[in-house]
Amino acid sequence: MTTFKLSIDGVRKAYGPVVALQPTSLDVREGEFVTLLGPSGSGKTTLLRCINQLETIDGGRIWVDGDLMGYEDRAGTLHRLTDKRIAAQRRDIGMCFQRFNLFPHKTTLENIMEAPVQVKGESRAKARERAIALLERVGLEDKPAAYPAQLSGGQQQRVAIARALAMQPKLMLFDEPTSALDPELVGEVLAVMRELARDGMTMIVVTHEMSFAREVADHVVFMDDGVVVEHGDPASVINNPQHARTRSFLRRMQSEPQAVEHIPESLQDAIAAEKHHDLKEDE
Ligand SMILES: Nc1ncnc2c1ncn2[C@@H]1O[C@H](COP(=O)(O)OP(=O)(O)O)[C@@H](O)[C@H]1O
Ligand SMILES: [Mg+2]
Repeated sequence: MTTFKLSIDGVRKAYGPVVALQPTSLDVREGEFVTLLGPSGSGKTTLLRCINQLETIDGGRIWVDGDLMGYEDRAGTLHRLTDKRIAAQRRDIGMCFQRFNLFPHKTTLENIMEAPVQVKGESRAKARERAIALLERVGLEDKPAAYPAQLSGGQQQRVAIARALAMQPKLMLFDEPTSALDPELVGEVLAVMRELARDGMTMIVVTHEMSFAREVADHVVFMDDGVVVEHGDPASVINNPQHARTRSFLRRMQSEPQAVEHIPESLQDAIAAEKHHDLKEDE
């Protein structure tokens, strides 16, 4: 048993000859906001997919809330759990990707209600009540009947976040949730994530939004070539990196134009900006 919410211990993963994760360890505490940085191909997505059991692992252990993920340990040997038990474990972990993958023929509200009703067998009334509350939480209380195609990319991503939250996860994983968005829509999604962090959600966020990472993260992890090169509080890792690989990555990031220069003061600001944008479009 561990006191960590998430404990990754020496996890390895290869795709054929390609080593995606060298033995990798990371502990995340309850309520901690961890940002995962690193160049393309460094293993960030693989790590999230291993945590969420979308991939089998070649070695090591992953615990979520004291639960060994995906495997049963019999005298030191790992045996894969049944699909049913893995599916049950995965319900505790919410995941948001670059692409939102909402059901196109369902409304916002139906998208959010789907998993609690279909997977957890919740009553429609209860699922609906929570979906309405979640829509409010992501600033889309006026959009329950909208279809994904009627929403901006930023709004769709906020629905995707609400959908993941509807399963009441213990842990949320975000894989570059803003990198498919137009720059002016990034801020509202970051604002929702910041609110979640403030409310105490345990989360790991892969992002290239450096100012956001520096401001919001409790812990920054820098990966390269399938290993955690460096980790620590944001001020140390981002402002004062110890490793040459971290320094060269950060230099590269800083020389590229940032998607957002300014992160809205609060979610309210982001939503107000969004509404203003809607009004202008209606004119
Ligand atoms: N399904 C896969 N099959 C083969 N190689 C893969 C697969 N997924 C990832 N890889 C390889 O694993 C390495 C890590 O990839 P990834 O975790 O996607 O990195 P990142 O998310 O940091 O860009 C890369 O070399 C990538 O090409
Ligand atoms: Mg990736």
